[in-house]
Amino acid sequence: MWVTSLAALVLLATSSSAATSSSADKALSTHASILADNSASLALSLYKNIAKDKNVENILFSPVVVASSLGLVALGGKSSTASQVKNILNAAKVKDEQLHTGLAELLTEVSDPKTRNVTWRISNRLYGPSSVNFMDDFVKSSKKHYNFDHSKINFRDKKSAVNSINEWASKSTDGKLLEVTKDVERTDGVMIINAMFFKPHWDEQFHHKMVDNRGFMVSHSYTVSLQMMHRTGLFDFYDDKSNMLYILSMPLAHKKSSVVFIMPYQVETLERLEKMLTKKQLDTWMGKLQQTAVAVSLPKVSMEISHNLQKNLGELGLTEAVNKSKADLSNISGKKDLYLSDVFHASAMEWDTDGNEIDTSIFGTEKLKTPRLFYADHPFVFLVKDQETKSILFIGRMVRPKGEKMRDEL
Ligand SMILES: *[C@@H]1O[C@H](CO)[C@@H](O)[C@H](O)[C@H]1NC(C)=O
Ligand SMILES: *[C@@H]1O[C@H](CO)[C@@H](O)[C@H](O)[C@H]1NC(C)=O
Ligand SMILES: *[C@@H]1O[C@H](CO)[C@@H](O)[C@H](O)[C@H]1NC(C)=O
Repeated sequence: MWVTSLAALVLLATSSSAATSSSADKALSTHASILADNSASLALSLYKNIAKDKNVENILFSPVVVASSLGLVALGGKSSTASQVKNILNAAKVKDEQLHTGLAELLTEVSDPKTRNVTWRISNRLYGPSSVNFMDDFVKSSKKHYNFDHSKINFRDKKSAVNSINEWASKSTDGKLLEVTKDVERTDGVMIINAMFFKPHWDEQFHHKMVDNRGFMVSHSYTVSLQMMHRTGLFDFYDDKSNMLYILSMPLAHKKSSVVFIMPYQVETLERLEKMLTKKQLDTWMGKLQQTAVAVSLPKVSMEISHNLQKNLGELGLTEAVNKSKADLSNISGKKDLYLSDVFHASAMEWDTDGNEIDTSIFGTEKLKTPRLFYADHPFVFLVKDQETKSILFIGRMVRPKGEKMRDEL
């Protein structure tokens, strides 16, 4: 066996023994709130860093899960390897123990399927080289706070090592995420792997029959065929005329979180929009949303996206952990022999019609007359925003959804 799993159990994020169980109205502790807020800043800086790479098309990651993986680095790191984590999270003043309990509390709160009505499976694993000895303390506390399990991997047979990573991810996500990576370049360090499956459950569902085939314009000259789902309803909406953008916020069940779409009027590369993306601008847009009758059409597709964030996190300030000659991760192994060689962050997200029953009483009333159109048939940015903690559960962009290329229509 190339892989020996110390804890083969695949856990739902919410089964974490970490924080106290969340109740609907419980406020986050102060340090968890600070971290929630800061993870929203991390969301935007990391998004922009990923988007710099011209080869990247679709983007999808969970800032709160990235934050908790950074927490794991702090747990295993010493001196500046650990303190850099706090700098990235803007939490230099937060005590170690509060960092760990705060991140755990935040993730437990936002991924609780009972209070949130979401399907969100999160599995985390730290792979170490076959020579590593994980320290008991580290294994215990990383499990407790971050729900990480640990495994050794031998890259002598690289192909089967990569296969075993992908198999683990697939199993952890009920087969929704088939591949985390095709290859592993650096095989001499520890690897963080996040494997997730997320499915939004709308506050009001799309009718499963209101689905048909349409074209999605990846660019002016390239259109793919996919299914789109349609519904009209009252939604928070803002038409930003000066920037030629539509902002639409659609609540998920229990209304504790919502998906915010930001889409240019017309098909264009998202660079112009992405330059505008700051926390301040987001807040401005959120403040201008008004309940409006909107006819919404969204792609009904699944996205499976994997990013190796090692380089990105290095560029955002995690320079020591990722550097073989500098990293001090000796709280993981008891020796200064490890560095963070990869951070595979992979998620499958299923855009589907499922949700709670629609309140049909407003149909046929004045309220829904002359709805605005939100027709998402070209690239857009989206965020899954948590209303209570203000954290960002996911951020991404749909640029090239899965689908057959359509014949050019002339
Ligand atoms: C790292 O380990 C040392 C002792 O081995 C311990 O005192 C320290 O608290 C640990 N650091 C963290 C961040 O857990
Ligand atoms: C969400 O709530 C609906 C009913 O309100 C239920 O049918 C569905 O299973 C719930 N989903 C999750 C993931 O809890
Ligand atoms: C790692 O740190 C060393 C020493 O500061 C530096 O020379 C080297 O460029 C760094 N490596 C990377 C990949 O950044």
